[in-house]
Amino acid sequence: MKAARCEVYGGPENIVIRDIPDPVVKPGHVVVDVAAAAINFPDLLFIADKYQMSIPVPFTPGNEFSGRIAEVGEGVSGFAVGDAVYGSVPQGAMAEKALVAVEALTLVPDGLSMVEAAAFRVTYLTGYLSLVTAGNVRPGQWVVVLGAAGGVGTATVDIATRLGARVIAAASSDDRLAVAKELGAEAGVNYATENLKDRIKEITGGGADLVIDPVGDRWAEPALRAITWGGTFVTLGYAGGEIPRIPLNLVLLKNVTVRGLELRTWIARLPEATAAAKAGLAELIAGGLRPRVSETHPLDDVAVALQRVADRVPTGKVVITVTEGARNA
Ligand SMILES: NC(=O)c1ccc[n+]([C@@H]2O[C@H](COP(=O)([O-])OP(=O)(O)OC[C@H]3O[C@@H](n4cnc5c(N)ncnc54)[C@H](OP(=O)(O)O)[C@@H]3O)[C@@H](O)[C@H]2O)c1
Repeated sequence: MKAARCEVYGGPENIVIRDIPDPVVKPGHVVVDVAAAAINFPDLLFIADKYQMSIPVPFTPGNEFSGRIAEVGEGVSGFAVGDAVYGSVPQGAMAEKALVAVEALTLVPDGLSMVEAAAFRVTYLTGYLSLVTAGNVRPGQWVVVLGAAGGVGTATVDIATRLGARVIAAASSDDRLAVAKELGAEAGVNYATENLKDRIKEITGGGADLVIDPVGDRWAEPALRAITWGGTFVTLGYAGGEIPRIPLNLVLLKNVTVRGLELRTWIARLPEATAAAKAGLAELIAGGLRPRVSETHPLDDVAVALQRVADRVPTGKVVITVTEGARNA
């Protein structure tokens, strides 16, 4: 099969396309003919060997995919050959076939295309769990979403709006803020040109109830300083580069709750919360929610697609179309 390969750690330009052996099905797993695979920011960290855990080279990048089941392993129930599914793998989604553990599979719901389904699992589960389980969001509350035009950001803005929260989007340009406003954000702060803390306080009139932060770096602290007494700050990642060091007195003085959320371990350790999130997301899909796919690229252009994510160009998710026609399937 054809697969994207990371053979040497480094930037997107190092990713090559190779012919490698097809995966062999094993108990508790299925082999999926991949239709589409979505990019997440951590893909850039994995190929550069900068993620918290190292993947030995050579490997096929990619955590999330959609496709059709080609083979079913021993002991698998609830899925059959031909089913349209989406899901996640530790690595290996950017290939024509993927070996997937049955727990990581979901049937594609009515109304989602293969491209949308590929873009759904990681960012939308992260957004939902951070808002509902970690953030305990309530209708009418002010929610600040940093990196609001990115993959996690657009998902979180969309979900928060649909749950009745009042969303302040924060991003690095007015064009990117416009995207978040299309998804329902009531206000925007351009953190490249405006004072993030002052603007959040001004807009809310007393501080935000909840901050969702996938960016970190120099934006985490001003956002935390703009939280109201008793509010919550959820840290998701550090796309900005630096892991911020926050003075603890800021947490004490306003009785702020700081929560961390790491999707893989939450799914493994909090099955009930994960099931509730999936059910909540299914309701939102039935109500019209669709992943925001900003652009698609063929498998041969994985390096180009990864570079665009590194350059902060996309607004929403970038999807690799592996089979012809995945875009409309
Ligand atoms: N905790 C979890 O389980 C979990 C799950 C998924 C993702 N994440 C994390 O969430 C973050 C976002 O992931 P994503 O897939 O949504 O990525 P993405 O689509 O690339 O979005 C990242 C956003 O961060 C902003 N940003 C600020 N400084 C940046 C920089 N130096 N380089 C790149 N982007 C920068 C960009 O927006 P502006 O240009 O507007 O600033 C961009 O929209 C990552 O840190 C990722 O590791 C965590």
